[in-house]
Amino acid sequence: MPTTAIANANIALIKYWGKRDHGLNIPAVGSISVTLEGLSTKTSVEFSRDLSEDRLILNDEVAGPAETGRVSGLLDLIRSRAGSGMKAVVTSSNNFPTAAGLASSASAFAALTVAATTAAGLNLTPAELSILARRGSGSAPRSLFGGFAEMRPGQNADGSDATAIQLFPEEHWDLRVLIAVTSDRPKDTGSTDGMELSRRTSPFYQAWIDSSASDISQMRAALEQRDFEKVADLSEFSCLKMHGLALASNPGLVYWIGSTVEAIHRVRSLRKNGTAVFFTIDAGPQFKAFCLPQAQQEVEGALADIQGVKRIIRTGPGHGARLVSE
Ligand code: PMV
Repeated sequence: MPTTAIANANIALIKYWGKRDHGLNIPAVGSISVTLEGLSTKTSVEFSRDLSEDRLILNDEVAGPAETGRVSGLLDLIRSRAGSGMKAVVTSSNNFPTAAGLASSASAFAALTVAATTAAGLNLTPAELSILARRGSGSAPRSLFGGFAEMRPGQNADGSDATAIQLFPEEHWDLRVLIAVTSDRPKDTGSTDGMELSRRTSPFYQAWIDSSASDISQMRAALEQRDFEKVADLSEFSCLKMHGLALASNPGLVYWIGSTVEAIHRVRSLRKNGTAVFFTIDAGPQFKAFCLPQAQQEVEGALADIQGVKRIIRTGPGHGARLVSE
């Protein structure tokens, strides 16, 4: 019997960009995110003595060696912890576009961690699950939790304190999130390569690291107080600072396309006129607007009006990763 888990994607309000340890995949900075209801990955894992290698079926197709290798890397850690040598069949599907900047790696590795550790007979603490999920993707530990989550970079060389925690549950704040999909193409430079390039070449990298702790503590407080204006300012600052860092890498990383930039201006002008909205953008061209419920219709109309916006996904704070019956 396979073991199945579902995890939602998340979007960072305070961004993670840069690793302090590449091999152990330990972030160099903390991050704070919102887990997004309904943008999910469903993953089933079944270990079997009859298999000679791991098999990954991704969105109904047999996955290539790169993707299967990433999954096997995490399964190896779980197998060694469980004292098992059995290979697995992993079946995974996303209900949103993969690798186009909609954080599919976060939901994928959160779901895989929960399903595979359970299938291997392990009963782990949230911190232990975080450490495993992080090895798959630095943003994945945040998707283990519902609502508002923080990923801490920690200090230990082995990454044992680089774990995520829940800051506030999904009921804490009824924010609305509108994702304007501007492209269905996978991005040119994945986050791991992009981060490494920024660490090696961007003259802004040290300033990014040095200013991170203050962004985190201010965001924690602003979320606790549900201070929309403060959360808006901090989110846009963190997003633009991350993209500034990426742009100042060599060669520069430009994740935006024309409609992404157009949407930035549109949201800024709405906000200037009193609408409760702000934006954030990850390492891809998709545009994410956060707003209060009363502003949703107006913001959705404004985004839909932008040339190049293909569709709008409506979401908001959602559940953490969980086991489901088939
Ligand atoms: O977890 P990764 O390796 O997919 O990196 C995520 C990087 C950003 O999405 C750009 C920022 C973030 O904190 O999610």
